[in-house]
Amino acid sequence: MSDHILEVRDIHTFIGQFHILEGVTVSVPHSSITVLLGRNGAGKTTTLRSIMGMTPPSRGSILFDDKPLSGKTPFAIARLGIGYVPEHRAIFKDLTVHENLQIAERKKGDLARKADFLFELFPDLKRLYHLNGGNLSGGQQQMLAVARALVPDNRLLLIDEPSEGLAPVIIEQLMAAIRRLSQQCAVLLVEQNFRVASKLADRYIIIDNGQSPISGSMSDLIQDQALVQRYLGVA
Ligand SMILES: Nc1ncnc2c1ncn2[C@@H]1O[C@H](COP(=O)(O)OP(=O)(O)OP(=O)(O)O)[C@@H](O)[C@H]1O
Ligand SMILES: [Mg+2]
Repeated sequence: MSDHILEVRDIHTFIGQFHILEGVTVSVPHSSITVLLGRNGAGKTTTLRSIMGMTPPSRGSILFDDKPLSGKTPFAIARLGIGYVPEHRAIFKDLTVHENLQIAERKKGDLARKADFLFELFPDLKRLYHLNGGNLSGGQQQMLAVARALVPDNRLLLIDEPSEGLAPVIIEQLMAAIRRLSQQCAVLLVEQNFRVASKLADRYIIIDNGQSPISGSMSDLIQDQALVQRYLGVA
């Protein structure tokens, strides 16, 4: 068995005629948090969507739990045990918190089995259980979006910019929850907020211009101001 739950090797992805990913390599170790860093438009979301089969790569390989994902539909990929929390928290606003979680079940009884764990991670959701998603604050919606991906037995979660637009105190809560859940399920996170990424992640991969020029341990990156400045434009 590989040390990695996910191995993305040199993928190339086109959207229409545009060559968006030009050789991206991503490894995610078991029970860890790996972050994709990079400027706007670098290809971070496209990398997650390529893993999910939503923009399937035309070259390269993706192995989940040592098995290739090529040729599989997003539905089939999700069923293997990968949860996807897209950008902008796509929860159902006209459904209650309960209903949003219920429709995420893959097997009957998933929600009943997971409810205690979800409420422990996100106590607000218990209090808001019967409210419509549309009545939740941005932070509560993001918590619901993450919780939804935890209802089925996933072994890897892909989370796209969870902190976007949220207040610092909410970001802290969300980070604590992601850190906890990563003990059960590996996490591949896109995070533009370097401070958040540096506190949360074990490893980083920089995505730049559709490529992944550099990766390593987060503690090394924190020491390397020049690298951070060069690829992320923040000090
Ligand atoms: N449907 C599309 N059609 C054409 N180009 C697209 C499409 N979706 C994304 N792109 C282009 O692909 C590139 C990578 O986009 P992507 O959304 O993966 O970047 P990102 O790193 O997630 O950026 P952000 O930080 O802004 O979310 C960008 O140049 C973007 O304009
Ligand atoms: Mg994006």
